[in-house]
Amino acid sequence: MKGIILAGGSATRLYPLSKAISKQIMPVYDKPMIYYPLSALMLAGIREVLVISTPRDLPMFEELLGDGSRIGMKLSYKVQLVPNGLAQAFVLGREFLNGEPGCLILGDNMFYGQHFGHMLKEAVESAEQGGACIFGYEVADPRAYGVVEFDAEGKVLSLEEKPAEPKSNYAVPGLYFYDKTVCEKAAGLQPSARGEYEITDLNKLYLQEGTLKVKLFSRGFAWLDTGNCDSLLDAGNFIATIQNRQGFYVSCIEEIAWRNGWISTDQLVALGKEMKTAYGRYLERIAAKGN
Ligand code: G1P
Repeated sequence: MKGIILAGGSATRLYPLSKAISKQIMPVYDKPMIYYPLSALMLAGIREVLVISTPRDLPMFEELLGDGSRIGMKLSYKVQLVPNGLAQAFVLGREFLNGEPGCLILGDNMFYGQHFGHMLKEAVESAEQGGACIFGYEVADPRAYGVVEFDAEGKVLSLEEKPAEPKSNYAVPGLYFYDKTVCEKAAGLQPSARGEYEITDLNKLYLQEGTLKVKLFSRGFAWLDTGNCDSLLDAGNFIATIQNRQGFYVSCIEEIAWRNGWISTDQLVALGKEMKTAYGRYLERIAAKGN
């Protein structure tokens, strides 16, 4: 399974913050936003990742993350010339996936909670066997999201993109696992009324085929939004609260690479020494602790 992070768009809801720089590079407390979705892919065990962004912003992600070798990964980059929908990730990413199953995560989606790594690994397995695996998360107001409706037995009845009258409170987070037919399916999509190749339309193809699985995140789990200034600040405060309370960093890519066995303890220490910040000291501290 390979991964794609879509970090494009113009993020007009964050203007003037996002007028000159990408939203997904902005700080969420102590690290750039893209660290959070990148960590999710790493927790899923995915080592090869394509970052898609605008011609203006892509060089910044390359400068930040490089070829990924420092954290034992293989990262590559692709420009999206026009922000014409999330499903385009699988048109732009066709060569990269090269017939393999793929996971897409949106560059502004953040997840935190127990057993997340386990759920991700189950989703990888499921999509590798065939079909798609997506998630449902109960929110108070799902109108800004893809919405999934279930029957009493939990069978998926429908999927709708940003419905004015949602049929349920289950929003679909921006984290999707697909089998190897995904690029072919994405290539056949037509633009929606708002002119975008919708990820929800791609998911509907799997639903029609009878191969769509929807796993639910429980109420103790956090799926955070960073769409406007308030939710961006809330996300930063949330991360600060958790980290400062327990002393463990959330979505620390160097730590995850080390715990995954992708880099050695010496490499982790060297990465820590490069940073004269609490972040750098944290890497040295966990390396010294050894677990
Ligand atoms: C996109 C998807 C939507 C999904 C959401 C998750 O919407 O189209 O189905 O629920 O991401 O963040 P956007 O936020 O890009 O408008």
